[in-house]
Amino acid sequence: FVQHITDSTNLQLLQMLQNASPPLKATVVVAEAQTAGRGRRGRQWYSPYGSNLYFSYYWRLEQGVQAAMGLSLVAGCALCSLLRREYQVNAQLKWPNDIYINGHKIAGVLVELAGQADAACNVIIGIGLNIALPETALQHINQPYADLTQATGQLIDRNKLIVQLQDELTNALNTFEIEGFKPFQQIFNQYDVFAKCLVSISGSATASGICLGVDENGAVLLEQDGNIQAYYGGEISLRAS
Ligand code: ATP
Ligand code: BTN
Repeated sequence: FVQHITDSTNLQLLQMLQNASPPLKATVVVAEAQTAGRGRRGRQWYSPYGSNLYFSYYWRLEQGVQAAMGLSLVAGCALCSLLRREYQVNAQLKWPNDIYINGHKIAGVLVELAGQADAACNVIIGIGLNIALPETALQHINQPYADLTQATGQLIDRNKLIVQLQDELTNALNTFEIEGFKPFQQIFNQYDVFAKCLVSISGSATASGICLGVDENGAVLLEQDGNIQAYYGGEISLRAS
């Protein structure tokens, strides 16, 4: 489904799921602009009209809500691998949902869950990827940011990118359904922007320590005074400290 301007492509899929004929697994909604682009924890995703990617992908996860925690990492790994392989950029991941190039945020992942009538759950994976931001973005984004045109110096074919992303996500989610998070642990840790850095955690937990990447479930590991502690869940943020 291609939309010109919408509130949020994630919201569009959430609404479709409430309709009598829900979307098919792997349905994608894309838009040219969003008036209410959503980030994590009530934050906004700046979504101007132009040449960016506002992409939401529907998946029905048979393992249920418990497994959904690893999904934003799985989607982040898929996008990072794609950007590295096809666009030769040094994309990195910040747990649990951000993609950076040279310390500048280029993309974010927002996973939302909908109506779980049975053991399975409906998952919406939203991805915002900057392809060509206007200069006025500076007034709207309160952290360093990047876009793919500037990072690659190439003209980006968005249609091709959408197809590549849909394929990459489908492969990653099929693997995740069969093998769980384990195959993604090493991929995430290879792309981790904070590997071996001193970081602090804020939100529903606070701590600081050396970041040791993620464990086999996708929890982030911090080492403090020789102890390794795992932090789960989506209500926390990592920062360099
Ligand atoms: P964390 O996920 O660790 O809490 P975060 O500060 O990046 O980190 P998110 O909720 O993931 O928070 O993302 C929303 C933030 O992303 C916004 O507050 C803004 O700083 C930034 N942002 C918003 N729109 C864009 C965009 N188009 N490109 C890059 N960054 C953006
Ligand atoms: C983040 O970094 O917090 C995640 C941002 C996710 C933005 C995408 S754009 C497509 C989809 N629709 C939304 O409203 N949000 C996601």
